Amino acid sequence: MPNAPQALVFDAYGTLFDVHSVTRLADSLFPGRGAALSQAWRGKQLEYTWLRSLMGRYDDFNAVTSDSLDWALDSLGLAAGPEDRAALMLAYRTLAAFPEVRGALERLGKRRTLAILSNGHPDMLDAVVDHNELRVFFGERVYSVHEAGVFKPDPRVYALACAGLELSAGEIGFVSSNGWDAAGARSFGFTACWVNRGGAPVERLASPPDAVVRDLAEVAALFA
Ligand code: LAC
Repeated sequence: MPNAPQALVFDAYGTLFDVHSVTRLADSLFPGRGAALSQAWRGKQLEYTWLRSLMGRYDDFNAVTSDSLDWALDSLGLAAGPEDRAALMLAYRTLAAFPEVRGALERLGKRRTLAILSNGHPDMLDAVVDHNELRVFFGERVYSVHEAGVFKPDPRVYALACAGLELSAGEIGFVSSNGWDAAGARSFGFTACWVNRGGAPVERLASPPDAVVRDLAEVAALFA
């Protein structure tokens, strides 16, 4: 990275936590369809955040996640009873952290302030952070778009991290596996590190990431 940020701010879903860890449960409910359901659910969830922001109609991420689950089930012709739906929604609060996350945070947290900035509702974020016992790295620095009433990549969201950490954009490094989120963060003025877990092509947006890595272990190596 071109400069050494004072704080590192992490995206949550897809970056720290594997959204597709719901696949196993989904597959047990709908044999052979779990991966398709997880992909459709996540894709529509993100689309609904962008659409709501463009329409100026904010609903929190619980509602967005619930609505997108219903759409995904319908799109695949799957019928879920109330208990199955509740189990899938609960799974979002207990997503697994990627295996290298804890080790990377241990290394990174020695020299820098660490924080999370996510689309998630504060309740969802608290649940998944505590489920994975990652609170020790972040303390109260778990920032949610809920305070801004709009989703990423609206600049008002990235500004929440500056306000919470009392740092300027240029002093913050932002780490996300979502290429569009890294682009939004770079556009706002953060130093952006894209964790390209899936080997995706770079987003054709005006603000390319400052660094591209494959996982959080490489983020730790970058700052070691
Ligand atoms: C988040 C979405 C982008 O955690 O995954 O903000």
